[in-house]
Amino acid sequence: MSVNLSSRVYSIQRSATYEILDRVRFLKSEGNDILDFGGGEPNFSTPENICNKAIEYILDGDTHYTPSRGKKELLDSISKKLFEENQVQVNPDKEVIVTPSAKHALFITLMAALDSDDEIIIPTPSWVSYQEMARMVGAVPVSLPLSQSNKFKITLDGLEEKYSEKTKAILINNPNNPMGKMLTEKEIDDIISFSVDKNIILIVDEIYEKVIYDDHQHFSVAAFPGAIERTITINGFSKAYAMTGWRLGYVVGPEAMISEILKIQQHTVGCAGSFVQQAGIEALNGDQTKIHEMLEEYQARRKLIVEGLNEIPGIKCDYPDGALYVFANIEGVQIGNSAEFSHWLLNTAGVAVTPGIAFGEGGEGYVRLSFATSRDVISQALERIRLAIEALQSGGVYS
Ligand SMILES: Cc1ncc(COP(=O)(O)O)c(C=O)c1O
Repeated sequence: MSVNLSSRVYSIQRSATYEILDRVRFLKSEGNDILDFGGGEPNFSTPENICNKAIEYILDGDTHYTPSRGKKELLDSISKKLFEENQVQVNPDKEVIVTPSAKHALFITLMAALDSDDEIIIPTPSWVSYQEMARMVGAVPVSLPLSQSNKFKITLDGLEEKYSEKTKAILINNPNNPMGKMLTEKEIDDIISFSVDKNIILIVDEIYEKVIYDDHQHFSVAAFPGAIERTITINGFSKAYAMTGWRLGYVVGPEAMISEILKIQQHTVGCAGSFVQQAGIEALNGDQTKIHEMLEEYQARRKLIVEGLNEIPGIKCDYPDGALYVFANIEGVQIGNSAEFSHWLLNTAGVAVTPGIAFGEGGEGYVRLSFATSRDVISQALERIRLAIEALQSGGVYS
């Protein structure tokens, strides 16, 4: 007789992006030539100065537990960065927790913020983990579907429509994954006035704040009038510093909230890795040349992929304001829904993309392609997608 696990775990889905990653690994191990546009992993190595700092500290014996909040020097560096770059003033000893990844920062925040059956409004399409993480802590994610015809904007009317007596929080991602959309000042004002009016918690994931293009400007929600006492900001080192494997992030908010969130950190993971935190200090305070070089390269890739996709019959794609993805509309390609399209593309052309439906309501009719991969691979993929779709439309066979 099989033994049941919790109803909580049966209520959540596996991560679509990890599933694709595993499938791509398997297909590659079988000798297939697959071009991977599924994951959001920068293909750059972590800058050498950051790696060297960690190695130095490992060899020096810095391999033990740290305070659960994080090392003092890292807390201070994060606070300094918040003040100088984000115009957000926090007390490093009381209003910041260093976490092993932004993902964990978000998890302990939701765990602390939400009771069973509390509702959390999540504008969608959104990062695949938001809704599942909310379910994991027993809460109810309430999707606020955004539409491209309105530039994926969050409006006061939309928020009001999703509000109920059970609404406890709203979760915003700026710039967002998967559309690459950045919030305007007007949207931020509306979100704050809605949160104040309803007295709810405002959770903002700013992990892509440094990956922004052209003359777009990133505004930190916590810096806006009226926001600081209810805003919890999530951030991390994975994307800006190409540090996905290090697992380092942080959560920032008012002392009364952070001191409660800290309990969850203490009883789950304890603290982030000791020498990894040292790498984080170097990332924030050390030479930033490599970060700017990476951004320039992303800018060139973004142009290449958007222009290339728009030349393919049936595909339409806007320039993202920030982040590492294009969210391409595939409705003009007659090959079923986004999951069927993605499956077909992988099997026909060996190109792995993420179906829009994985990002929740509003995602159908799109696929996400990550351009955290080289220009050469992007060019090859564009050619393969073009040939596959042309063959499909002319009734021929892709070869
Ligand atoms: C919006 C968003 N938040 C958080 C994360 C996770 O970041 P970390 O690697 O720090 O867990 C990702 C990763 O893809 C993301 O897209």
